[in-house]
Amino acid sequence: MSQNQEVEKKDQPESEMATIYIMGKPYEVPSELTIMQAQEYAGYRLIRGVGCRGGYCGACTTIYRKKDDYKLHIDLACQTKVEDGMYLVQLPFVPAQKPKWDLEELEATSEEVIRIFPEITRCVSCNTCTQACPQNLEPMRAIQAIRRGDLEQAADLSFDCISCGACSARCPAEITHYHVFQLVRRLYGKYIQPKAEHVAQRVGEIEEGKFDDQMDELIELPEDRIRELFLDVRAGNEFSLDQNSGEE
Ligand code: SF4
Ligand code: SF4
Ligand code: FES
Repeated sequence: MSQNQEVEKKDQPESEMATIYIMGKPYEVPSELTIMQAQEYAGYRLIRGVGCRGGYCGACTTIYRKKDDYKLHIDLACQTKVEDGMYLVQLPFVPAQKPKWDLEELEATSEEVIRIFPEITRCVSCNTCTQACPQNLEPMRAIQAIRRGDLEQAADLSFDCISCGACSARCPAEITHYHVFQLVRRLYGKYIQPKAEHVAQRVGEIEEGKFDDQMDELIELPEDRIRELFLDVRAGNEFSLDQNSGEE
């Protein structure tokens, strides 16, 4: 631990500190920190098992036990606050074999998904996966939707999955939900979802060079002007490189 951290510790009132254990070693950390912040406060330099720090990438899945609680908990280290008496173990990732598949050779049916992931049929509807999900998704419902042949619902229910693996680590049927859901969303996007004609049209225009001049002009603009344009478009105004376009 560095000298700065020692100084920081002394500045904190005693009541706001918590004792946590990282791989069995005790550390005093401010109790308002997340697990990830507390690990860094304790002097760990995180190289693996950290990504967005905002609950989006699923890289920081962490296993912990709480004081006087025999259960193992699994959560995202960047989103979960420390608690006094917490024992931590961090997994660099949730290891799971991913079967190989080629989207071009598949049909968008639940039979196809079950052929690749036969363990789906072993789901015992315990709902443990749903309780483990830090994104408040309903992985069990999505698995059941696949079994009913409703890939659209499964893709929709799993749209916000961040592939953290917290559900899979608890599943007694050994289902790797995030791999299953990735396949389902890709099948849905390629074969079931209606084609976005306006996107195809715009891609065609880009390929024909319709916006090349505007792009060249944009690249040359100073940073302040680019920021202004960005804020303008975000406020709902139409994009225009003409500086006076929004003025009376
Ligand atoms: S469904 Fe599973 S892998 Fe996806 S976010 Fe929820 S717990 Fe993580
Ligand atoms: S944890 Fe596994 S077995 Fe239990 S409901 Fe979820 S998918 Fe089914
Ligand atoms: S670091 Fe990305 S979800 Fe925690």
